[in-house]
Amino acid sequence: MSAPSDNRVEFRGVKLKFGDKVVLDGVDFSVAAQEVLVILGLSGGGKSTLLNILLGLLKPDAGAVLFKGEDMTTLPRPQLNRARTRMGMVYQTAALLSSMTVRENIALPLRELTEKNAGEIADIVDQKLALVDLAEAGDKLPSELSGGMQKRAGLARALALDPELVLFDEPSAGLDPINGKLIDDLIIRLRERQQVTSIVVTHEMDSAFAVATRMAFLHEGKIILDAAPDAFLTSDIPIVRKFLSVYSNREAHRA
Ligand SMILES: Nc1ncnc2c1ncn2[C@@H]1O[C@H](COP(=O)(O)OP(=O)(O)OP(=O)(O)O)[C@@H](O)[C@H]1O
Ligand SMILES: [Mg+2]
Repeated sequence: MSAPSDNRVEFRGVKLKFGDKVVLDGVDFSVAAQEVLVILGLSGGGKSTLLNILLGLLKPDAGAVLFKGEDMTTLPRPQLNRARTRMGMVYQTAALLSSMTVRENIALPLRELTEKNAGEIADIVDQKLALVDLAEAGDKLPSELSGGMQKRAGLARALALDPELVLFDEPSAGLDPINGKLIDDLIIRLRERQQVTSIVVTHEMDSAFAVATRMAFLHEGKIILDAAPDAFLTSDIPIVRKFLSVYSNREAHRA
């Protein structure tokens, strides 16, 4: 047994292959309570895979993935399901159920996983709809919403159970700047007002720097830089420099 820690999340030596392809080659990082860790990396590098492992949806070939000290890779099903109710996931695609209204989509985890009555559930759904600025859209089907609205509905669903940890996979990809900022502000607000811990995967650098308390760069199966956001702007690791150069150039123009 290792020493107990305050970390909400810990990846220790996590390895995963799909067929012959090594996707994760010994991933180590941790996330303390109330941090917003932004994970950066090239497309196809394994970021969504990391989130799926943390949710217990994918089993790694090796390593441990602790959520509040419990190893999600070995936890028996009932405890795994209980741990999952403490996490919210905002999927890269909104992943709403198409035959249900937005309201029903958000209510689903509350109906399935809590003892709350219909009135209590309706109140929570209203509150979450308002939080993502979708108060008017509750009775629509996902297909009647724009992509950005679907994304916000997915976020409302992820927050339905008031999770302690929220995983965001590209939360602002494809959104206009106003909707993107709405989501950034929500991530910041969740941390400041509700002590939520978050892991955010994003390629949007403005958003990354707006929300991150720390950043980690996943490359060729490993975390090659794990540091405060400022350290990313001054890093001399070639791939990190290249990744951030577009953003840094733009910042320089603004200065
Ligand atoms: N279920 C799966 N079966 C086989 N290969 C997979 C599976 N899921 C992901 N992969 C492969 O694993 C690698 C990592 O995929 P992943 O979706 O985690 O990347 P990502 O970093 O999230 O990329 P993006 O930024 O484009 O979303 C890719 O090569 C992908 O093709
Ligand atoms: Mg992905």
